[in-house]
Amino acid sequence: MRILLLGSGGREHALAWKIAQSPKCEKLYIAPGNAGTANTGENVAIGVNEFDKLKDFVSENHVDMVVVGPEDPLVKGIQDEFKADPRTAAVPVIGPSRKGAVLEGSKDFAKGFMKRHGIPTARYETFDGTTVEKGLRFLGTLQPPYVLKADGLAAGKGVLIVPTLEEARRELRLMLDGMFGNASAKVVVEEFLSGTECSVFVLTDGKHYQILPEAKDYKRIGEHDTGLNTGGMGSVSPVPFATKEWMRKVEDRIIRPTVEGLSDEGIDYKGFIFFGLINVGGNPMVIEYNCRMGDPETESVMLRLKSDIVDLFEGVARGTLDRYSVEFDPRAAVSVMLVSGGYPQAYQKGYPIEGLQEVKDSIVFHAGTAIKDGRVVSDGGRVIAVSSYGSDKEEALKKSFEQAQKIRFTNKYFRRDIGQDL
Ligand code: AMP
Ligand code: GLY
Repeated sequence: MRILLLGSGGREHALAWKIAQSPKCEKLYIAPGNAGTANTGENVAIGVNEFDKLKDFVSENHVDMVVVGPEDPLVKGIQDEFKADPRTAAVPVIGPSRKGAVLEGSKDFAKGFMKRHGIPTARYETFDGTTVEKGLRFLGTLQPPYVLKADGLAAGKGVLIVPTLEEARRELRLMLDGMFGNASAKVVVEEFLSGTECSVFVLTDGKHYQILPEAKDYKRIGEHDTGLNTGGMGSVSPVPFATKEWMRKVEDRIIRPTVEGLSDEGIDYKGFIFFGLINVGGNPMVIEYNCRMGDPETESVMLRLKSDIVDLFEGVARGTLDRYSVEFDPRAAVSVMLVSGGYPQAYQKGYPIEGLQEVKDSIVFHAGTAIKDGRVVSDGGRVIAVSSYGSDKEEALKKSFEQAQKIRFTNKYFRRDIGQDL
């Protein structure tokens, strides 16, 4: 099979690594890819939102399947566009339709969906420019801290957690006044939930689903979860509190009602669902849905997925996912993200990355890298994910931290406490 994977981060390098291992994968293209994916398949210089160019490429190169990494093209309707073009209509796109991607693209929709289907989540209300006063009153009924969420995509920055009522009221006004542009024209105000987070992933063909290994990610820049939020500084799989019993609750109360709810509402959904969960007193609740895999969770999850991912994608495309089973690697897997100093605020890029060839015992996934004058250079905030297996997470972490020292670039930073809280 000839497969085109869209995206350019660590998630996509990990997906490419896994796809390329399948005997069914005859040719792998990555658009636009990074310096790492260039060694796993063939990079194609087309952006993930350039739908016309992507369709031309798919039809000219006889691509048999498109796998979408990031949310942006899904929310913009790439699946629908491919379906509407006779040249690409028969090419399966692994990723939901525009209507399905709204689970991530609109927090108000996601909350309403959970309410309609009895899926456990924080109590909430949504406000817009015409209901500001109501919003200010609703905040008064909640306990601190206060959670305010821009309805639309805001590059991962649209959630504010504020300690006092006064600040919450001020922030609500600012958000509705356009703090995140159109994304905060509507704002979800919700109850704060206290607990430990866990990311659970499924693949669904719209009727059936298969659960993939779960993972925990580390979002803050500083050790012991301090400082600003990032795209993710590391991940660990499995998650100790995600026992069989807890995962049964997740499946019964969250996964099955979600997949059935999508189908009942006539939403075409063939792809990944990422459940951002929080464990509240032993009970899972949904913080958010994403319509794609997590980053850097994928950089651990792909290590633990033993089954052939292209097989599973075929099941998704054909609507026969119930005939497959997913096998997990019993080992632990972790991923430690090496980032550019300064990230998630201003940072320099373009620094040469040395020592990649010296890494043994770990798998190096490139996130923000590029090739310049024949050398691998840093090209983003998150630069390299160092992923490792171990008989337990301690052994895996030890390997990743050791190997992380061998990779050198100016102002390299990483968190040394990944996985220590579990
Ligand atoms: P989201 O973009 O919805 O995932 O929110 C970003 C982060 O904010 C989450 O990963 C949580 O750490 C935190 N968060 C969001 N909603 C809540 C909530 N209701 N209670 C506690 N923390 C939350
Ligand atoms: N690691 C969280 C995310 O991908 O959104």
